[in-house]
Amino acid sequence: MTSTWFDRAKAVIAGGVNSPARSFRSVGGDPPIVMARGEGAYMIDVEGRRYIDYLAAFGPVILGHAHPEVTKAIQEASAEATILGTPVPNEIRLAEVLVEAIEGLDMVRLTTTGTEAVMSAIRLARAFTGRSLVIKFEGTYHGHSDGVLVKAGSGASTVGTADSLGVPSGVTQDVISLPFNNVARLKEALHRWGDNVACVLTEPVVGNMGIVPPAPGYLKEMRELTHQAGAVLIFDEVITAFRFHYGAAASLLGVVPDLYALGKIIGGGIPAGAYGGRRDIMQYVAPLGGMFQAGTWAGNPLSSAAGLKTLEVLRKENPYARMEQLAQNLEIGITESANRHEIPITINRVGSGFTVFFGSEQVTDYDSANRASKDLFGRFHQLMLEQGIYLAPSRFEAWFVSAAHQEMEIDQTLDAVQKSFSRLRP
Ligand SMILES: Cc1ncc(COP(=O)(O)O)c(C=O)c1O
Repeated sequence: MTSTWFDRAKAVIAGGVNSPARSFRSVGGDPPIVMARGEGAYMIDVEGRRYIDYLAAFGPVILGHAHPEVTKAIQEASAEATILGTPVPNEIRLAEVLVEAIEGLDMVRLTTTGTEAVMSAIRLARAFTGRSLVIKFEGTYHGHSDGVLVKAGSGASTVGTADSLGVPSGVTQDVISLPFNNVARLKEALHRWGDNVACVLTEPVVGNMGIVPPAPGYLKEMRELTHQAGAVLIFDEVITAFRFHYGAAASLLGVVPDLYALGKIIGGGIPAGAYGGRRDIMQYVAPLGGMFQAGTWAGNPLSSAAGLKTLEVLRKENPYARMEQLAQNLEIGITESANRHEIPITINRVGSGFTVFFGSEQVTDYDSANRASKDLFGRFHQLMLEQGIYLAPSRFEAWFVSAAHQEMEIDQTLDAVQKSFSRLRP
């Protein structure tokens, strides 16, 4: 029946999915599972089959699905109004909570998606500096606006090339894409173009080529170099903020950017994003200044209520150490199992998020992530799915443990890993 649903989807939705990351094309091409609902650490498909969920909807689900307090907050807010088009108390409270929790976030602007948050932060950096170039890194993902769908140019080309059809060269010529974790290349680029670099944009811990942490000292160097060049440092913390602790990853890593882009967890399961940072930079945002950015749904009562409640629960219950412990148990168990079955893997884990790369090489950037086996991951994904474990359908995504996962789910997952590896001879 899930494939009947998907047949219907394919007839009316491009590719049958409303976001390409949901398709199973990179893991063998089976139809994706059509899910009916979520319940704590589980998703339940339209036929009633249950799956332990490590997708976490690509990041936002941190308390588990349909958390009773969050559901109640959404119900109460929706009974009052879902949208008013005026300032509302909850968006102001959410902004206050974010400013309090995140170091260097003096002021914030709420948006509806992470894509908008990053797009707006880039525009703001350009408005503030009066410069046009953006430096970003290969394998990071910053949403689907033109300005970030740019990869490194080939051969001798110094500027980026489009990572999607339809992105004009007028956009790509202002974007430079460099390898992550490579101070020398960043230094060289800033030396060459520094006077015209508006911003350096990165995920501080990358979540989109699988989890790739920054090398020791890398972000500190980036902070220092951007400072010297007069470029704005933007951390895209759409995945990482409130994922590893109550706050941004920046403060865990000891580096404070000039601007942040936020999203996912801060909406408590309802669409939300935000950007913000230094007060002197935020003065440029309309109506205070001349950088225009707007949104009908920005800071709407529903996402503000859901986000506020989620952050309140995270603060009160502080589930981070327990989530990390469970993720570490998975990491250890998966590694032992792989060793037993002589399957070469490398696991990158930060807190409750990790990626299993199928290869023995350390993964520190996009090239090394890309050398991990796509074929082995695709087969592993399929075998895990058959045993009721839902992993993100791409080798470049993460497993996320939520506060709803318990030891029972971890044990069941390790059992499934063991069985999958036994059938997965490379
Ligand atoms: C780091 C990062 N930035 C930005 C985005 C875009 O966010 P959204 O999908 O809400 O537009 C994503 C989405 O996965 C992301 O992972």
